[in-house]
Amino acid sequence: MARRLAPLPAYDYRRAVSKNPSSLRVLGIETSCDDTAAALVHLRATELPEVVAEHVTRQDAAHAPYGGIVPEIAAREHAALVDQAVEAVMQRRNWAGIDVIAATAGPGLIGGVMVGLNFAKGLSVALSKPFIAVNHLEAHALSVQLSHQLAYPYLLLLVSGGHSQLLRVTDLGEYQRLGSTIDDAAGEAFDKTAKLLGLPHPGGPALEQLAASGDETRFALPRPLSGGDRLDFSFAGLKTATARYIARDIHTDQDRADLAAGFQRAMTDCLVDRAARALAAQPDVTAFVAAGGVAANRTIRTALEAVATAQGIDFIAPPMRWCTDNAAMVALAGGLHFAKGRQSDLDTGARARWPLDAQAASRAPSIGSGRKGPKA
Ligand code: KG4
Ligand code: ZN
Repeated sequence: MARRLAPLPAYDYRRAVSKNPSSLRVLGIETSCDDTAAALVHLRATELPEVVAEHVTRQDAAHAPYGGIVPEIAAREHAALVDQAVEAVMQRRNWAGIDVIAATAGPGLIGGVMVGLNFAKGLSVALSKPFIAVNHLEAHALSVQLSHQLAYPYLLLLVSGGHSQLLRVTDLGEYQRLGSTIDDAAGEAFDKTAKLLGLPHPGGPALEQLAASGDETRFALPRPLSGGDRLDFSFAGLKTATARYIARDIHTDQDRADLAAGFQRAMTDCLVDRAARALAAQPDVTAFVAAGGVAANRTIRTALEAVATAQGIDFIAPPMRWCTDNAAMVALAGGLHFAKGRQSDLDTGARARWPLDAQAASRAPSIGSGRKGPKA
């Protein structure tokens, strides 16, 4: 049996914040997918958090030759880049000013998660600072609070390369997963379809650009799970139907543009269908928040906003840098928990899977996969 490390010596976090309990400086580290990121965030009791410094290195160029994210390459890149990311946010700042170090511990690509998590633990020991392990999905769920002061509960649609989830954010640490993908994530479907259309990685933005000159009504494409009772997503059938057209009917640039537009519309309709039903079922939410790389798509964003407006609910799409993977959201999530007196032990392991809503995960164990291996 593996020997376990002794837990981090008990650290009285009140000592760190006793001078000013409403002021916490958190160093956050994010390495769970293909972005190597660090951020320094100052949490204050009554104001929005201040993102003092942040740094993200996207690994698109390293993965582009393979047309998708290669986990081993991602881990190597993180290993090469993580110290630079931390250095970039610390610059000449005094380490003594940091109250707590937060790092993503999952869910994600395990090699990358281990790099950031172990780096954070190393810093924690070297600096005698407390450490807190953060759930990446929870960080996404809370990230809107970097830019907006809003009250719980709110509804979050998280659509990225790795996740497609509808989450009710009831309170800090209290999340209800209303729906998630049963096959591909939304961004993954964009990327795979874009690849079939001969577009470069990452495919989402390229497909959106191609779709701009297309006729979205020309090709009939399915809207899987639309109109049902479930709030889950399924995009594999849409991608396959698109692939069939590509094999048979696509000869000119206009054909490609029309098919891209048709795909984008079908995807939009699926997201709108689920969002509208989720909002109708959660009438007490204060806002509808859309996050993740796919939320950058203008057609999708406009359609989601219209859904919220029709139901009299505020629509919030946070700034893109906090919608996609970033470390400010990790620092925020870690800091909010730390402020409640929580911290993590040094033997906290990296997790490929880490459901935010364990009950939902056990209700539907087959649900929730995607490009990046097993998902929460
Ligand atoms: O959140 P993100 O940067 O990283 C993670 O996957 O965690 O999301 C990236 C995903 C990719 O699949 C990318 O193709 C997709 O978001 N994406 C888009 C657009 N911009 C990025 N999909 C559709 N339209 C876009 N404009
Ligand atoms: Zn993410």
